[in-house]
Amino acid sequence: MTIIIDAKEGIDYEKLEKAASILREGGLVAFPTETVYGLGANALLKDAVDKIFWAKGRPQDNPLIVHISSKEMLGMCAEITDERVYMLIERFWPGPLTIVLPKKNSIPDNVTAGLSTVGVRMPANKIALELIRLSDVPVAAPSANVSGKPSPTEAKHVIEDLMNKVDVIIDGGKCSFGLESTVVDLSGGEAVILRPGAISYYALKEVLGNIEYSKAVVEGLTGTVPRSPGMKYKHYAPDAKLIIVKGRIDKRIDKINEMKKKLEFKAHRVGILCFYETAHNFDSQYKLILGSMFDAKECGRNLFSLLRKFNQLGVDYILCEWGEFNLEFLALENRLYKAAANNIVEVL
Ligand code: TXA
Ligand code: MG
Repeated sequence: MTIIIDAKEGIDYEKLEKAASILREGGLVAFPTETVYGLGANALLKDAVDKIFWAKGRPQDNPLIVHISSKEMLGMCAEITDERVYMLIERFWPGPLTIVLPKKNSIPDNVTAGLSTVGVRMPANKIALELIRLSDVPVAAPSANVSGKPSPTEAKHVIEDLMNKVDVIIDGGKCSFGLESTVVDLSGGEAVILRPGAISYYALKEVLGNIEYSKAVVEGLTGTVPRSPGMKYKHYAPDAKLIIVKGRIDKRIDKINEMKKKLEFKAHRVGILCFYETAHNFDSQYKLILGSMFDAKECGRNLFSLLRKFNQLGVDYILCEWGEFNLEFLALENRLYKAAANNIVEVL
């Protein structure tokens, strides 16, 4: 049985203490963060962490992020070998930045999938911070979805995926970012972005001076072993086949309408994922709007929940328009391409 705690209107400390003690004693607690909902376990207990892999159906070789509520907790998990770590923490914590560092022995191997490094972040969400503080242990937490599905940005998504597989789900309303944290690796000298997220390349460069994207981010899936193991799996996938139609606005609109017609002729149900500015060009009862093409934040907040909405609509295909956007759209583009398993039709 899963206990659901409603914290949308604020924290009830008696209930949160209960959730925190369940977490500390080895239970699973799903909680909101500013990025997506996390599925938490006591990061110091190997058996508790094992339950995360079971509940999500997650591959064992994909490491988990450890969440902390204070700088003191960082010392329990990781070695700080480098002053750049302090610079990043000062500037971005609490916030959507995960820093990969050499791990301490207190963190069991299943948290890091056997790696000698650990990803750590301090979330900027009051419920998450209070939960971790009250549990008084670092909390290992991947996104609280079944592996391969879109990440949860509302408690109802967690309920959909994990009801009766976890001990507690805390409902803190909608996540403010809606895309996962930026993961930056500082364990090996050069700072490398392993996963784009809400904290941009430019923001990191401003603090660090030197930083680069990992090959896996730049080139997509290359077949070599990615440094961030999570980047190689099927991800965020809706039930329907998602196809990205990329190109100039007028061309992509024409292409989508042409493809839609052909698919509907074969009796397929076709969803459209588009922007406010272009929506009037598509005539469909299965049309969902990502946001404004000038507002990466808005689109990022909506993506995962819209992919789940298409599952409810029962469409067979989703045709999603895309173009050339600035780096603000990179995290969104990265998730979208993965959700589409790199199924992209380019129109010139
Ligand atoms: O915003 C977020 O980061 C959310 C919330 C819940 O905090 N969490 C999240 O966790 O997205 P997850 O497990 O879905 O993604 C973790 C990512 C994976 O791509 C994983 O491979 C990478 O972080 N990662 C974790 N530890 C790592 C390590 N030691 N070295 C390299 N990559 C690591
Ligand atoms: Mg995830």
